[in-house]
Amino acid sequence: MIWPTRRSANTPPTSDQAAAAAAAAAGNAAVPDTAAKDIAVSEPASASTMPKLPPRATVKPTVAPKAPEIRRIDLYTELKVDLHQKLIERINLSALDTMSREQVGRDIGDIVQEMLKEVNHALNLVERRQLVEDILDELLGLGPLEPLLKDPTITDIMVNSATSVFVERSGRLEQIGTRFANDGHLLRIIGKIVSNVGRRVDESSPMVDARLPDGSRVNAIIPPLALDGPCMSIRKFSKTPIDMDKLVGYGSMPPDVATVLKGIVKSRRNVLISGGTGSGKTTMLNAMSASIEPHERVVTIEDSAELQLQQAHVVRLETRPSNIEGKGEVNQRDLVKNALRMRPDRIILGEIRSGEAFDMLQAMNTGHDGSMTTVHANTPRDALSRVEQMIGMSGIDISPKSARSQIASAIHVVLQLERLSDGRRRLTSVAEVTGMEGEIVLMQEIFKFERRGIDADGKVIGEMKAMGIRPKFMEQLSARGIDLAPSLFDPFKRVEGKA
Ligand SMILES: Nc1ncnc2c1ncn2[C@@H]1O[C@H](COP(=O)(O)OP(=O)(O)OP(=O)(O)O)[C@@H](O)[C@H]1O
Ligand SMILES: [Mg+2]
Repeated sequence: MIWPTRRSANTPPTSDQAAAAAAAAAGNAAVPDTAAKDIAVSEPASASTMPKLPPRATVKPTVAPKAPEIRRIDLYTELKVDLHQKLIERINLSALDTMSREQVGRDIGDIVQEMLKEVNHALNLVERRQLVEDILDELLGLGPLEPLLKDPTITDIMVNSATSVFVERSGRLEQIGTRFANDGHLLRIIGKIVSNVGRRVDESSPMVDARLPDGSRVNAIIPPLALDGPCMSIRKFSKTPIDMDKLVGYGSMPPDVATVLKGIVKSRRNVLISGGTGSGKTTMLNAMSASIEPHERVVTIEDSAELQLQQAHVVRLETRPSNIEGKGEVNQRDLVKNALRMRPDRIILGEIRSGEAFDMLQAMNTGHDGSMTTVHANTPRDALSRVEQMIGMSGIDISPKSARSQIASAIHVVLQLERLSDGRRRLTSVAEVTGMEGEIVLMQEIFKFERRGIDADGKVIGEMKAMGIRPKFMEQLSARGIDLAPSLFDPFKRVEGKA
């Protein structure tokens, strides 16, 4: 029961805990650590670590919501924060831990009812219920983010500042009316998220990667690096991962190409998945991994674990940033090296970004066929150049020609993904690396997405076509008993009727 320590709204809080938590709730910096624990307020709330936010350089005009709407949202946010603050002064915070959300909800509902009378706010039943839900989200969860996290149609949440929030639904970005009370409120929520995974965000480490308990990937960057106040990006974890059949169902690739991709994984070809930010690289990696045989030992390496492999024989590794003294960092490169000592059949590296590219190519070249990774690049050719640059970053003294020959022998297939102008993600190219000629890595495109235009609704029209080339990897496929019909690669047979 949270009533026992209840005081009148006018009585100043007697416990440091309550006062501190209330201050934290309002985005105030002076919060002792003891108080932080009970309502899960995290480190940034401490006066010493809390960065001072510089004044906003510019006020960005927001497209939506419109002015009267903003005023209404502001009034509601003010009321919510005000009541939340008053509530914290009244309730027994430590009791919250032992109660279910329903129990807390019932008690809070009663208190809110009473407080609404005091502040003279007339709310109808629906509004009151919403207010209680929102206050519960503040107390027990991540405040304004909670409804967005619960909404299954939202895949990405982008908090540009306390008053500017965008989400992605069905591939489309839209600005929504969600607002935080102020920068301090947003910073408190960020602090709550990152402290849950033992990380911190403050002036000395203003950029941080974290994960929500449900696996969603979070990045936060705060002033002085972020000019318009704290900023956070959340890639929501999909509870039911997108598999190959779903990718085909969404029109991301034709069924015939999906059959070929499954064959590529089964025949242990090394695959590089290339694409821009949010183009679906991790999703494709995950979908392809389903074709790995259950008896194979797989080691996955990621900066922020997102892969959801279904096999039983999987070891998941995640990098670690340095601690407050700048020590203890374990990067992807260290993990790739370690993975090689773990007797893996295949290594799956979430994304190559730097020197680990060299070690990954070594792994691919030395008996770990069937390994896969992703890279940020716009075309398959560009992807190989990026890998070459990354080899340079590894500090290994190697000539461009040797680097290219490493690439040509390690990577067998490059897949290109794109987020099209209509918001849909698509496989746009399947290319095969065939060897070297002089200093050039040879590639041939097996399938290619050909755009024919855009329809009246802005939807991209096009189809994926076979380029009429019988891939070299057919030999490996046949050797493993996977026989793909030659007609799959026939350019005159349309592999897809519609985009
Ligand atoms: N083919 C697809 N159809 C519909 N949605 C997709 C598809 N592929 C991915 N998505 C969704 O798009 C979002 C981004 O996907 P994903 O994380 O795989 O991209 P990414 O390229 O790995 O991004 P990043 O560059 O940030 O690592 C996710 O929410 C995912 O569920
Ligand atoms: Mg990714």
